[in-house]
Amino acid sequence: MNMDLNRTFMWQMPTKLIVGPGCSRQAGPELKALGGSKALLATDRGVRGAGVLAGIQESLAAARVDCAIYDGVEPNPSIRCIEAAVAIYRAERCDCLLGVGGGSSMDTAKLVGAKITHPDVDITQFEGRGKIVNPIPPLIAIPTTCGTGSEVTLSAVATDTDRHFKMGIGSPLLYPKVALIDGSLLTNLPGPVIAGTGMDALCHAAESYVNLTTNPISDALDLAAISMISRWLRPAVANANLEAMSNMVLAASIAGMGFANTRLTIVHAMSHPISGYYGVPHGVANAILLPLVMEFNLIGNARRFGDVARAMGEDTSNLTEMEAARLSTRAVRALSRDVGIPETFEGFGVTDEHLDAMIEDAFKSGNIPLNPARVTREAVRALFLRSMGRTE
Ligand SMILES: [Fe+2]
Repeated sequence: MNMDLNRTFMWQMPTKLIVGPGCSRQAGPELKALGGSKALLATDRGVRGAGVLAGIQESLAAARVDCAIYDGVEPNPSIRCIEAAVAIYRAERCDCLLGVGGGSSMDTAKLVGAKITHPDVDITQFEGRGKIVNPIPPLIAIPTTCGTGSEVTLSAVATDTDRHFKMGIGSPLLYPKVALIDGSLLTNLPGPVIAGTGMDALCHAAESYVNLTTNPISDALDLAAISMISRWLRPAVANANLEAMSNMVLAASIAGMGFANTRLTIVHAMSHPISGYYGVPHGVANAILLPLVMEFNLIGNARRFGDVARAMGEDTSNLTEMEAARLSTRAVRALSRDVGIPETFEGFGVTDEHLDAMIEDAFKSGNIPLNPARVTREAVRALFLRSMGRTE
């Protein structure tokens, strides 16, 4: 980890973290301290049905913070879904936000906040960086999956269903004020959800670590997250016990802190159109693409891929730089296989029908120029085809 003297970098992480089993019961006092009197709680029916909200609601009641629940958050939330939550926020006269769930719920809460303080701006106009200029209402994020890191990032993703397009939205004003990282909320999470979201977190850390905007702070966070996920994802998927889930949910936040400042690579650029067109869960789409993209990127920064291999527990002693780098893809494939991620999109009905449009959508991503190897449309085409199980 060396400081590059030819480049300045900025580091920002304004979110207060509280970490540990049971800490989600601090939602009430924390919202109260932020001046909130009635929260819109954005979540999905699965989270609500799993009984995850009980302790949070008790803490809100004890702190005399009222709460309206919107439980209609869908995977890859659409603009319609966010607007429905905005309507409840207004009707219930809320003044603060709680996002409880996976990235979809937390991102919905962020974008409800943005819409509330930009009432005349269409949500599609938030696309890109820096379009949100007014502070959003106080927001507390509580992750119930171990992937997105949205609780500590400035990003939100919304799907424009008319265009089958997942819009990336980024603004420092979207950082939650507080994140409550409570592993006890995740112990009933189904294995496939842990696998998909955990692999998403691995992508965040591994992509951030090899892209062109790294710095020593993100390096430290990324390698720590890669190491924790490699250690804890398998037992988490197998048993979802408190120790494994506490480590996984924290690892996802650590990865989130890293990539919020560095961004990612073409894994995420390519996974968004896959999810936009075919509804493949975000983490699963990333996980399938990750080893293929890593193989493409290895020669772009072999030394760093060797670091990834070592963080995943591979022994690289007496190996050349490229031999060590190749072990990183082997380690990722082994982890993916062990937790039940398929190798290709064949089982998801993904075909080349929308290939040209998906390539163009991938190229709209701000992550394209940050990829460690130069990206061409031909290269993305070949990678998409390989991800579909095709060889041509
Ligand atoms: Fe992601």
